[in-house]
Amino acid sequence: MLVNLILLGAAKPPHIIFMVADDLGWNDVGWHNDQMFTPNLDNMARAGVILNSSYVQPVCTPSRNCYMTGYYPFHTGLQHAAIFPNQPEYLPARFTTLPQKLKQLNYTTHMVGKWHLGFCDWKYTPTYRGFDSFMGFYSGREDYYTHMIGNTRDWNGYDFRFNTSVHRPPDGEYSANVITARAIEILDSVDPVNDQLYLYLPFQSVHAPLQVPQQYEDMYANISTKARRTYCGMVSALDEAVGNITSALRDRGFMDNALIVFTSDNGGATNIAANNLPLRGSKTTLWEGGTRGAAFVYSDNLLNKTGYTNNELIHAVDWFPTFLTLAGGAPDAGMDGVNQWPTISSGAPSARSEFVYNIDDIDNNAAIRVGQYKLIEGSPGQFNGWTPLPPLTASDMATASFPQYQLFDIEVDPTEHNDIANDHPDVVSKLVNRLNFHKATMVPSNMQAADPASNPDNFGGNWTPGWC
Ligand SMILES: *[C@@H]1O[C@H](CO)[C@@H](O)[C@H](O)[C@H]1NC(C)=O
Ligand SMILES: *[C@@H]1O[C@H](CO)[C@@H](O)[C@H](O)[C@H]1NC(C)=O
Ligand SMILES: *[C@@H]1O[C@H](CO)[C@@H](O)[C@H](O)[C@H]1NC(C)=O
Ligand SMILES: *[C@@H]1O[C@H](CO)[C@@H](O)[C@H](O)[C@H]1NC(C)=O
Ligand SMILES: *[C@@H]1O[C@H](CO)[C@@H](O)[C@H](O)[C@H]1NC(C)=O
Repeated sequence: MLVNLILLGAAKPPHIIFMVADDLGWNDVGWHNDQMFTPNLDNMARAGVILNSSYVQPVCTPSRNCYMTGYYPFHTGLQHAAIFPNQPEYLPARFTTLPQKLKQLNYTTHMVGKWHLGFCDWKYTPTYRGFDSFMGFYSGREDYYTHMIGNTRDWNGYDFRFNTSVHRPPDGEYSANVITARAIEILDSVDPVNDQLYLYLPFQSVHAPLQVPQQYEDMYANISTKARRTYCGMVSALDEAVGNITSALRDRGFMDNALIVFTSDNGGATNIAANNLPLRGSKTTLWEGGTRGAAFVYSDNLLNKTGYTNNELIHAVDWFPTFLTLAGGAPDAGMDGVNQWPTISSGAPSARSEFVYNIDDIDNNAAIRVGQYKLIEGSPGQFNGWTPLPPLTASDMATASFPQYQLFDIEVDPTEHNDIANDHPDVVSKLVNRLNFHKATMVPSNMQAADPASNPDNFGGNWTPGWC
């Protein structure tokens, strides 16, 4: 042990900045699509490591579950869908979260942005789940300026907090700016040399509703579709936020020992305005367009190999053990995630050759990747096409009927044009067996009916814990 410490020299565990974009499409970043204006993201992606086979869940809550626990959502009961604000659902308290683990290693842990892992009881909210501070919203979507969820009677509530208190940012301030200002305030409160920071930044951008200050939309004046123009502006506002936070990290001396990870939480919603081309499908689907995230890692000095595209398999559950190992901890045996630091830092082969896209016991669909092959069981979901821009065609919208099993060779056919199940019954049966092995370990989906006790009218107009 002593020898190890000496060999490692005086190196302290790094600051970890984990940036999550919401509903960002595969083709909505500058390093995939040169019509996107995302210079801050592009520069870090190109100078760092572009993660080209980095997988996430088809929707928000399940991906955030992976980041927080290192377990697949079919092991936590969160596999079916995003949590609506009136549903008494949550990340079960029996799971120790990544920030709780990092706190045991003396990290200071802060979160700014979207939680979306349940809030019906205080014990499920960020400051009770390992974060020293939290500014943001508990639910999954809201207005970018007013922080109101919906405008019907049951939904009309305010959702924005600083720690546990209702917080009202200056009137009319756009959420990307609010999140950036708070992130920089945190940097001012942490000592870059003596403290170790875990900063979790799940941005509201670029989830619906489509809202952005006019100046960002104007950057895309030559895009004729209003929804797409606004959406692209939202992406550029996110890019500016990332640029401002990165500059602040550098100005304050954090970049001498920092790892930045950027990822989308799921594919883009093609029915709203996102673009996952050339990948197939949309957010909510098991297609690559729903599950393959735009992602990169960047560091000034912690990566041994940089400036390239890494095609090794990485899954959202892997960030927990990767970060925990970097911080000096050891992940629990049996965790679904694996430490990918050798892959990310040096381009070593992935620590995994298999992952489960999802097992949904309510929709009765599932998918698994083993080596180059992907098996999809049941319908992959709605929005099945290769759609460039809205409005979608009727055939994109249709819930097509699919064979019970589809097989794709993702290495030669990443766009999922050719179902080869009939040509390879042996591979199908091998992957069905692997999928069934995982199904045997599934926890049933904990989906709950909406509870009227959640109504913000009961809490002075705010979405508030205390009803489960
Ligand atoms: C729109 O303008 C940008 C920047 O000038 C350019 O890169 C892009 O090709 C243009 N797009 C179209 C559809 O003309
Ligand atoms: C954390 O800090 C405490 C108090 O300074 C110290 O006793 C403990 O050894 C530290 N733990 C680690 C893992 O560094
Ligand atoms: C939230 O908690 C952090 C950490 O304890 C503290 O620095 C900050 O002042 C708190 N904010 C409010 C509004 O209480
Ligand atoms: C980034 O910083 C500039 C300069 O301070 C500021 O004008 C802009 O609003 C900031 N953008 C965001 C998203 O915080
Ligand atoms: C990234 O992945 C896509 C889809 O699999 C593939 O077509 C492309 O060649 C990869 N890019 C690089 C640079 O390896």
